[in-house]
Amino acid sequence: MASTISFTVNGQARTITTDPQRPLLDVLREDLQLTGTKYGCGEGQCRACTVLMGGKSVPSCLTSAGDADGQTILTVEGLAKDGKLHPVQEAFLAEGAFQCGYCTAGMIMGMVGLLNEKPNASEADIRGRMQKHLCRCCSYPRILTALKRAAAAQKQVK
Ligand code: FES
Ligand code: FES
Repeated sequence: MASTISFTVNGQARTITTDPQRPLLDVLREDLQLTGTKYGCGEGQCRACTVLMGGKSVPSCLTSAGDADGQTILTVEGLAKDGKLHPVQEAFLAEGAFQCGYCTAGMIMGMVGLLNEKPNASEADIRGRMQKHLCRCCSYPRILTALKRAAAAQKQVK
């Protein structure tokens, strides 16, 4: 049965009526046209669908629309502020840390979530958190360099 779900997405209050069991990923992509968040596996195995909910990174394919009710969601479309990319986005660009780019938004949101929780994230923290994020182009060396660059930039800000 459909329910009314209200949440904040990228700073905007949104209300939709939908099946609360639908994946948040589908709501973002199909209802709100936020297609930066990608469908990879649909079962929690790739993290291409990562968004922030309440500041923490979550796989949106395993998060139901009902779970998102009342929450604050941030997708890759909402990361840049005042025309300036987020430091994690800057790091990916600076390192050329992508080929097809399919995994990139999920990687970036996963790293932003880690830095929200651990502003002083070590390489071990990065490797531990990001190990569930898959890149089918195997751009891992550059991705790891970009993630470390983003962590270093975060430490300079502090
Ligand atoms: S699509 Fe969500 S983890 Fe793969
Ligand atoms: S750059 Fe293609 S999946 Fe990662």
